[in-house]
Amino acid sequence: MIIKQIVFSLLLLFIIFFALRVVYGLLVFMFKRNTSAMYVPSFNRHIRLMKDNLKLVRWKKLVDLWCGDGKAMRFFFRTFGVYCDGYEIQYFPYLYGKILNKLLWYPDLRLLKNDFLIADIHGYDYIYVYLLPQQMAAIEDWIFKRMNTDAIIISNSFQFAVHTPYDVIKDKKWKPSIYLYKKD
Ligand SMILES: C[S@@+](CC[C@H](N)C(=O)[O-])C[C@H]1O[C@@H](n2cnc3c(N)ncnc32)[C@H](O)[C@@H]1O
Repeated sequence: MIIKQIVFSLLLLFIIFFALRVVYGLLVFMFKRNTSAMYVPSFNRHIRLMKDNLKLVRWKKLVDLWCGDGKAMRFFFRTFGVYCDGYEIQYFPYLYGKILNKLLWYPDLRLLKNDFLIADIHGYDYIYVYLLPQQMAAIEDWIFKRMNTDAIIISNSFQFAVHTPYDVIKDKKWKPSIYLYKKD
């Protein structure tokens, strides 16, 4: 009986947070003038594409610079066993991600409530970005100057303005979808 109640409460909690997330997304979409901080988790089709095509080395370190609720980080950890840190500037995705990580039992993922600009990206083997082209262009110099010589940038959906990817993963319709970069 008590187990039923616990399961029911957890389910209810999950539904409430999911509903809040949808409402939050809608409010941001309707009222935010600056779309630079839009909270849009990676789509499942991109996650599947990365699962089928990437080969990341277990126990290496990945950072998601704009991590939202940490969806991509959970995928990278679950699939490749890489350690993941993520930076998120807004409270809602950060707290929601923290709760999801607790509920879904991802104790090793580090979600940090901070601007990614404080990140020391030199220490990471993989850098994951899911940003619009103008945001990619804005951080291009910053990222390429600081990244490790052996690191790989995994960019979901969008390209940098100046640098050329060394590999591009296309989806089933041959649409370029995941761009991979190394330091020049
Ligand atoms: C596209 S979503 C992230 C999706 C996530 N990377 C994923 O793949 O599931 C972009 C997130 O970046 C956050 N963000 C925007 N500017 C930021 C900054 N300067 N530092 C850290 N996070 C930032 C936004 O709050 C938003 O939640």
